Amino acid sequence: MRVQQLVLGGLLGLACAQFPPKREGIKWLKSKFHENVTISYKEPGICETTPGVKSYSGYVHLPPGLLDDGSGEVQNYPINTFFWFFEARNDPANSPLAIWLNGGPGGSSMMGLLEENGPCRVANDSKTTYPNPWSWNNEVNMLYLDQPNQVGFSYDVLTNGTWQLDEYDGGFSVVPANFTKDGLPEANLTSHYGTFASQNLCQTANSTTHAAHALWHFAQTWFFEFPHYKPADDRISLWTESYGGHYGPGIMNFFQQQNEKIANGSLDEQGAQYMHLDTLGIINGLLDMAVQGESYIQFAYNNTYGIDVFNQSIYDELMHNWTKPDGCKQRVSACQAALKDHDATFLILSKTAAVMKPNLTEICGNVEDDCWVNIIKQYYAEDRGFYDIAHPMRDPFPPPHMYGYLASEPVLAALGVPVNYSEHSAAVSSDFQRTYDMLRGGFLDAAGELLDAGVKVHLVYGDRDYACNWAGGEKASLAVPHKRADEFAAAGYEAFLAVAPDYVPSSHLSLGKDTDEKEVVAGMTRQVGNFSFTRVFQAGHEVPSYQPAAAYAAFMRAMFDRDIATGLRRVTSDLATVGPADTWFIKNVPPPRPEPRCYILKPGTCTPEVWAKVKKGKVAVKDYYVIGIIDDDDKDKDEDEGVSGVPLEEDVEGREIFGEL
Ligand SMILES: *[C@@H]1O[C@H](CO)[C@@H](O)[C@H](O)[C@H]1NC(C)=O
Ligand SMILES: *[C@@H]1O[C@H](CO)[C@@H](O)[C@H](O)[C@H]1NC(C)=O
Ligand SMILES: *[C@@H]1O[C@H](CO)[C@@H](O)[C@H](O)[C@H]1NC(C)=O
Ligand SMILES: *[C@@H]1O[C@H](CO)[C@@H](O)[C@H](O)[C@H]1NC(C)=O
Ligand SMILES: *[C@@H]1O[C@H](CO)[C@@H](O)[C@H](O)[C@H]1NC(C)=O
Ligand SMILES: *[C@@H]1O[C@H](CO)[C@@H](O)[C@H](O)[C@H]1NC(C)=O
Ligand SMILES: *[C@@H]1O[C@H](CO)[C@@H](O)[C@H](O)[C@H]1NC(C)=O
Ligand SMILES: *[C@@H]1O[C@H](CO)[C@@H](O)[C@H](O)[C@H]1NC(C)=O
Ligand SMILES: *[C@@H]1O[C@H](CO)[C@@H](O)[C@H](O)[C@H]1NC(C)=O
Ligand SMILES: *[C@@H]1O[C@H](CO)[C@@H](O)[C@H](O)[C@H]1NC(C)=O
Ligand SMILES: *[C@@H]1O[C@H](CO)[C@@H](O)[C@H](O)[C@H]1NC(C)=O
Ligand SMILES: *[C@@H]1O[C@H](CO)[C@@H](O)[C@H](O)[C@H]1NC(C)=O
Repeated sequence: MRVQQLVLGGLLGLACAQFPPKREGIKWLKSKFHENVTISYKEPGICETTPGVKSYSGYVHLPPGLLDDGSGEVQNYPINTFFWFFEARNDPANSPLAIWLNGGPGGSSMMGLLEENGPCRVANDSKTTYPNPWSWNNEVNMLYLDQPNQVGFSYDVLTNGTWQLDEYDGGFSVVPANFTKDGLPEANLTSHYGTFASQNLCQTANSTTHAAHALWHFAQTWFFEFPHYKPADDRISLWTESYGGHYGPGIMNFFQQQNEKIANGSLDEQGAQYMHLDTLGIINGLLDMAVQGESYIQFAYNNTYGIDVFNQSIYDELMHNWTKPDGCKQRVSACQAALKDHDATFLILSKTAAVMKPNLTEICGNVEDDCWVNIIKQYYAEDRGFYDIAHPMRDPFPPPHMYGYLASEPVLAALGVPVNYSEHSAAVSSDFQRTYDMLRGGFLDAAGELLDAGVKVHLVYGDRDYACNWAGGEKASLAVPHKRADEFAAAGYEAFLAVAPDYVPSSHLSLGKDTDEKEVVAGMTRQVGNFSFTRVFQAGHEVPSYQPAAAYAAFMRAMFDRDIATGLRRVTSDLATVGPADTWFIKNVPPPRPEPRCYILKPGTCTPEVWAKVKKGKVAVKDYYVIGIIDDDDKDKDEDEGVSGVPLEEDVEGREIFGEL
């Protein structure tokens, strides 16, 4: 295939690349409660195309100093938090609201919006969208947020920079640059430029608690001052995924404590408002490394798909390393115990190291590398998908079309954002690493406190995911300390029913059900009162991408107080599922393993051979997909070599590729 011309066309397109367009059509309003707090927004008119259904994108702008609210925090940088709000398709005024957060730490929630549960999906031209009938905004007002600061479209200080795509380091890196002074660099396939957040490590949150504090201030402004949210139903829920096993309980529990302080008059914060907290939903979440850590070894050896990623000798050795005296199990617990005494928000390692007893660097320093990254490296070495054990490491699913979509000028103009999109923030992930937030405990307790305070908590796990696999998730569900923990453990599993995944509903399905449609067993659920754990069959990490109907059913039933398993029973305190004590006897057949397909804006989809050609510019690209390899100097090589096939990477370097939960 001679494809030289296509490539030249592609490069010319990039050479004309621009900065994000000027923000136009923006409405501004000032906070009534806080001087210098503003909201800016517009109606983007994209993605949600259902007639009459409104959506708004914009920012809550928090000036420096706003978080210095007596809690000890010093915030000397602005926080501009991006939101994209979709009214419910049906009766928004009387619908509850759910916030959606993806994980990371440092991951953007645009992934959930465009690949999982939002009103649209991006087509394979990376330009057009089509409606998602299983959108969570059918009956619920949905608020997608990029947090903490510098994630996705959120930013501190607008900063120009070059953007380098790379197979490692999480797919790309941003290097701040002053183009006014130094002129514009040449753009090519793997190097562009644009406007980003500062990348400054000191200008974002470095722990879940810290993020919760900033998000509470965002919420105070948005919920009580955003003019297009005037609910008759004031319930607020939080649904989250992956690292959301930390974010969800951490943030919701922080909000709950603020509520309690407002109620007992101990919060010294002008205009602070009580928030009616309803449901916490967690999809394939990491709640606690001490509880879930061992499952990274076990799931690769023992899963319901009969996929043996680790052989007996690797498994035995990893398990020995985990369980031996002073092994990983003890080290993770010791680190958690040491962190417990140190407030997560203001953990100042460098300054107080001298007086810090115990020495956190010594206790926690290498635990993540030795006890987590080490296992995952060996998993990757067997060419398995992190988010789907049945897929290759260079996983083409979910299709990455949102990356191209969000890089385009018309989309940025419609959203009214002054920054380029980045899928994750390296500043945030490295900040969280420095405070050992991933190892930190307390999130199970937070979930338990929420349950005991009457908040509903629902856990949903796709059973092909490795990153936060259901085996570990089930253990976490049993380890949540709450008043009814014994009853929960004693309850059996019931069949989780949902309509077949390929069924296209003609209109919104009440509670995810259509009376005309037969239901299938989509998984298994254990539930007692307001707490449930569900294993979803044939779903990887992003459950709504794999099983949209099942994810929708779980979401709807949780939100509207129905039992997760069937949606037929109203949840009362005596609701308890009945059935087998575990679900390991239910085995699955793995789907066919898809071929990797290189999408250049997501280098993790590309095999090393193809990526090497991309870096040299020796590829033909259509709609960001590599569709051909150009003749190299190496005449004797097949020009199509490496486009398909699953070559193995021998030495996987770089942490970011591992760290994205
Ligand atoms: C930034 O956005 C502009 C469109 O407004 C685009 O041309 C440019 O390629 C983007 N840069 C990056 C790094 O995505
Ligand atoms: C608001 O901004 C103005 C101008 O920057 C500053 O003088 C004032 O102190 C700020 N107010 C608060 C409450 O931070
Ligand atoms: C997009 O999908 C259409 C229809 O399935 C197909 O013909 C086309 O080749 C696809 N394009 C890309 C870039 O994959
Ligand atoms: C980015 O660079 C362009 C071109 O030099 C300039 O017009 C723009 O003001 C810069 N933006 C920022 C935030 O520095
Ligand atoms: C970039 O350089 C120009 C010229 O030296 C200077 O005026 C401007 O302040 C610089 N911009 C930034 C963001 O540092
Ligand atoms: C108010 O509630 C907070 C959060 O639960 C608690 O820490 C605090 O002790 C309470 N204060 C009083 C005076 O009851
Ligand atoms: C796999 O794990 C399950 C749950 O812990 C256990 O019941 C089963 O015996 C294990 N199977 C093997 C082969 O280890
Ligand atoms: C187990 O797997 C490792 C890593 O792939 C390999 O080096 C080793 O030879 C295998 N052992 C057996 C007994 O197959
Ligand atoms: C087990 O731990 C030892 C000592 O730290 C290490 O050398 C070895 O590589 C570990 N084994 C595996 C399979 O990771
Ligand atoms: C985390 O952020 C807080 C608040 O900005 C800061 O005081 C602390 O030094 C940071 N901790 C680390 C380990 O970077
Ligand atoms: C803490 O432990 C680290 C790593 O062992 C060491 O480099 C550092 O000096 C220790 N700090 C103190 C105050 O002992
Ligand atoms: C693309 O640009 C980067 C940065 O300027 C450069 O390092 C790289 O070699 C270029 N690639 C090609 C194929 O020209």
